[in-house]
Amino acid sequence: MTTPGAPLAHGLVLAVDGTSGSGKSSTCRGAAERLGLAYLDTGAQFRAVTWWMLEHGVDVHDPDAVAARAGEPTLVSGTDPLNPTIHVDGVDVAVEIRTQRVTDAVSPVSTVPAVRARLLELQRQIIAEAREGAGIVVEGRDIGSVVAPDAPVKLYLTADPEARAARRAAEQGSADAAALAATRASLLDRDRIDSGRATAPLTLAEGAVHLDTTPFSLDEVVAQVVALAEAVGAGA
Ligand code: DC
Repeated sequence: MTTPGAPLAHGLVLAVDGTSGSGKSSTCRGAAERLGLAYLDTGAQFRAVTWWMLEHGVDVHDPDAVAARAGEPTLVSGTDPLNPTIHVDGVDVAVEIRTQRVTDAVSPVSTVPAVRARLLELQRQIIAEAREGAGIVVEGRDIGSVVAPDAPVKLYLTADPEARAARRAAEQGSADAAALAATRASLLDRDRIDSGRATAPLTLAEGAVHLDTTPFSLDEVVAQVVALAEAVGAGA
């Protein structure tokens, strides 16, 4: 057992996967901040590519059309957990990528292998740089299984669909029954596509700790992740 707050191993990588709305982003940002690590939201990268495809009139339901243009957008991800940024071709798209238009199109775009290959290269570059420094918390769907399978800390976050829909609706400021039902349906639809795709599906990676966040507050989940990182990372 390590002392809480013990110094972490240099270049520690935390791979955090899980379903939409499981609290991954808030948890990962909070844990990265407390541990003094960088933070990478790979979902934001898939959303940014999706935004670019929509802006350029590409049919997001045509995998060949998406693949043909997957090499074009230039992405830059800022990895400060207090202010994560995302630019595509120099445009700040932090707000646009959270719109329903992008949310509805992101799962089909993410199933295209050429998109995944492009982002995998970028993600591995960012992780390699962070390994030279304090380290990084990386969140997504395939981080522990494909992007960083050698990460010393791997987590898989889930929560009940009702809890996920309620959190997402609260974030969006709409909590009436119809909005909750629509949010729940959209989350479950994305889970189905993300888990069922052929390339790098959402899965519990080998060696990952499964954490069901349903009964816990954000602070409690962050505390559990920090404790795990300190326990595992001090010896990594
Ligand atoms: O985490 P998020 O909801 O912002 O992710 C948006 C979509 O991106 C998600 O539905 C699936 C895809 N995604 C992925 O396929 N692989 C990742 N590593 C991260 C996200």
